[in-house]
Amino acid sequence: MLIYLDCDTGIDDALALAVLLARPDVTLAGVGTVDGNTTAVQAAANTLGLLALAGRSVPVSVGGGVFLGGSETVHGSNGVGGVSLPGGSVDPRPAPSLLVSLAAAHPGELHVVALGPCSNLAAALALSPSLASQVASVTVMGGAVRVPGNVSGRAEFNIANDAPAAAAVVAAGWPVTLVPLDLTMGCRWDASAIAALAADGRPLTTALSQIIPLYYDFYEEESGVREIPLHDPTAAALAVGLLTPSDAPVLGLRVDPSSGATIEDPSAATRARVVFEVEGRPGPAILETILAGDWPPST
Ligand code: BDR
Ligand code: CA
Repeated sequence: MLIYLDCDTGIDDALALAVLLARPDVTLAGVGTVDGNTTAVQAAANTLGLLALAGRSVPVSVGGGVFLGGSETVHGSNGVGGVSLPGGSVDPRPAPSLLVSLAAAHPGELHVVALGPCSNLAAALALSPSLASQVASVTVMGGAVRVPGNVSGRAEFNIANDAPAAAAVVAAGWPVTLVPLDLTMGCRWDASAIAALAADGRPLTTALSQIIPLYYDFYEEESGVREIPLHDPTAAALAVGLLTPSDAPVLGLRVDPSSGATIEDPSAATRARVVFEVEGRPGPAILETILAGDWPPST
């Protein structure tokens, strides 16, 4: 399965990247970064650092968007919990151009996984009128359909950060699957995952074990329980078939371009498949997948 990943790396984006890299049936064709949890430039540096630890070489392009700041308490000063990662070189193409060229090179084969604001996807749609018909599927982590949002009563971070872009992505006519907070808030790790990653001891898993405690701190402060929701890893796992939906209706859905609310509306002109439930135990499945990754050993 050929994937273009768009992300704002980001602690849970880092875990999602590990899921994609760990799957032997996935070829990561390229990564574009977007303003969100951190700047697109910092997100690219973070992605390149994680790829270096995983021993993988993948084109990483910087995109754009709207950097609003304010995520430092969730994701740390650099987006990855303040942990220093190795360096790397970005691809010279802007992220929307990378997406357009990959889709044109592999018509009907490229699956898009978007784990940050939709700015790059909307820019790519504006660049290429053929893009929507060339892409096989689009999975977006975002939205709060039947539950409260995490940035306002109705809105979720990725959608609210660039609501007009999200509205354009939902309206583009390509097959969109939305993976909202309705599902991801219930797909969780407890603190034993930190120890399991640390015990694995390879460079990528060790770095992940150092990156994620800040994320636990944030959610523990909110809920009183030392657990984290696996927003982005759940979306990545669904996109590649690691998780199977058990409740995923195609809904009339519209994005309010000012608030970023994702509104279920049978009369809406735009539709998306919305995943509300999955089979099995998503947290353990995601952890087992990362631990089974063919990462280089520590030297
Ligand atoms: C989303 O917002 C970001 O903080 C996470 O990386 C995830 O993509 C959850 O609302
Ligand atoms: Ca993200």
